[in-house]
Amino acid sequence: MTYSIAMAGKGGTGKTTLCGLFINHLVNAGKGPILAVDADANSNLNEVLGVEKPITLGDIREELARSEIDENSPVPVGMTKQEYVNFKFGSALVEEAHFDMLVMGRSQGKGCYCYVNDVLREQLKKYYTNYNYLVVDNEAGLEHISRGILPPVDLILLVSDCSRRGIQAAGRIAGMIKELDLKVAQVWLIVNRAPAGKLDPGIREEIEAQNLSLIGVIPQDEEVYQYDAAGKPLISLPETSLVKQGLAEIIKKLEL
Ligand SMILES: Nc1ncnc2c1ncn2[C@@H]1O[C@H](COP(=O)(O)OP(=O)(O)O)[C@@H](O)[C@H]1O
Ligand SMILES: [Mg+2]
Repeated sequence: MTYSIAMAGKGGTGKTTLCGLFINHLVNAGKGPILAVDADANSNLNEVLGVEKPITLGDIREELARSEIDENSPVPVGMTKQEYVNFKFGSALVEEAHFDMLVMGRSQGKGCYCYVNDVLREQLKKYYTNYNYLVVDNEAGLEHISRGILPPVDLILLVSDCSRRGIQAAGRIAGMIKELDLKVAQVWLIVNRAPAGKLDPGIREEIEAQNLSLIGVIPQDEEVYQYDAAGKPLISLPETSLVKQGLAEIIKKLEL
């Protein structure tokens, strides 16, 4: 069984950073193979993981949707559309030693996407069972999950910064998870970038007001800033870094 995890939260709270480090932690703990999916339209998980960005599923979808109306179809003669998607799907997968990565890319444009979405959904469904974990870096709207393009999620980690508004945004996403009836077994809140790793009582109050369950607090980490500024992939941060240690404690609590 593949255990699937998704990060969600307001932009800039650290979802992509924590998603990449989460994958790195699982890999180092020998828990691979892992399928990493970048489901944010503004995709940059590859930078945290230090891999090249591949062709996105959105690109493939665009190409196929165009082929419906274009005489110069990209689908070679003698190949069915299904075969072509399968072939393209392979080229969209970044393969590393213990994890693979897919990038969803832009989700909508003009034209009919139903067929291609159906094909992608089927492909992903078949594909993800090859992995022990599926880890998804999401946009706030959870669109790929709610539309069923990505498989159902077992655990959602809501990421917030240390602000009331960040916590409120997490609260809204938690509400949406209920409304959409996504049947997620566990939803936890992570507060990231806390000054000195401490939570202000006001923020705790807001967490309670939003009815969220806090699993851990990750400190503001200067080393993250330095690595980011130097263009170094964050997975190469030392294991002793504040952010990696904070995340390790959370993963321990999750018993993954
Ligand atoms: N614990 C942390 N300490 C310091 N900087 C952080 C921390 N977590 C994330 N950042 C920085 O915050 C910025 C936003 O992070 P990112 O992961 O891209 O957020 P999101 O994916 O939610 O938009 C990045 O510049 C990242 O390096
Ligand atoms: Mg991001």
